Amino acid sequence: MQPARAHAPGKLILFGEHAVVHHRPAIAVPLPAVQARAEAIPAEFGAGLTVHIPDANRTLRVTGELDREDPLYNALIYPLELALDALNEAIPDLEITIRSNIPVASGLGSGAALATALIRALALALGHPLSNDALNTLVYKVEKRHHGNPSGIDNTVIVYERPVYFVRGSPPAPFTLGAPLTLVVGDTGVNSPTHLAVADVARLYEREPDRIASIFDRIGEIACQARAAIEGGNIAALGPLMDENHALLRDLTVSSPELDALCAAARAAGASGAKLSGGGRGGNMIALVAPEAAPAVAEALRAAGATASFATTIG
Ligand code: PMV
Repeated sequence: MQPARAHAPGKLILFGEHAVVHHRPAIAVPLPAVQARAEAIPAEFGAGLTVHIPDANRTLRVTGELDREDPLYNALIYPLELALDALNEAIPDLEITIRSNIPVASGLGSGAALATALIRALALALGHPLSNDALNTLVYKVEKRHHGNPSGIDNTVIVYERPVYFVRGSPPAPFTLGAPLTLVVGDTGVNSPTHLAVADVARLYEREPDRIASIFDRIGEIACQARAAIEGGNIAALGPLMDENHALLRDLTVSSPELDALCAAARAAGASGAKLSGGGRGGNMIALVAPEAAPAVAEALRAAGATASFATTIG
């Protein structure tokens, strides 16, 4: 056993959320401005495995029995149990401290980042560092437990820490940005569980297969066009694609009055496009801006009700 540290970034979905669950392409980028960090130190003989969460003022123990009622237990202990099982290791004598400044249930990948940082730190401490492929498989299993029917885009972009063009069931296709993107992220302050929105979209698809399939198809085309524009450094093309993607997400019923208001405020303050990012119904939105417009757009978002807003440059 040895001391180990690991971290994992948040993520932003730029294009294609929800349609990606139904096998259309989507684009996501890591968001290193927010991070989950895990630090493991060997504990005394017989102490077992404990997880300290200073932000929640709690300490949890890995006992081999999962407490399904406790969301923290499910988010933090389940990934460790899964990793121990995959590594064929008994419960070690180890203390892990986990910290994260990624807002929860808001579309920034908090759950996948926590699981990634925890499993990485555990595996390193045990002297069995995991490949990204092996780690990605484990974090996808964690996502499945929390979200029911995840596409796998969150764990993929967070584990590999690279921009990805993602199609469910295909190996992730990392790609490079032809020019940096400046985004302003605005938080509605409304927590919205992704699995409920995903289930509602699935029901809508069952009721109106043709109409919803053509929305998914158009979202997939937008992701494809956006990839070409991003790789080619044609940032100007992206704003209108974001606006159209947002309108289609509204048609899928996953926007909300708060998200629509923040997107409108961003556009009015000079953003070239804006859309919700992630599961929707709350959580975060993103606006594409010229770097010099970022402070004004961030301010306009707060004036329009965002509980937080910040600018970030990707690439
Ligand atoms: O976990 P979130 O809220 O960032 O949403 C992920 C994106 C969805 O397409 C809505 C779900 C999925 O599994 O791809």
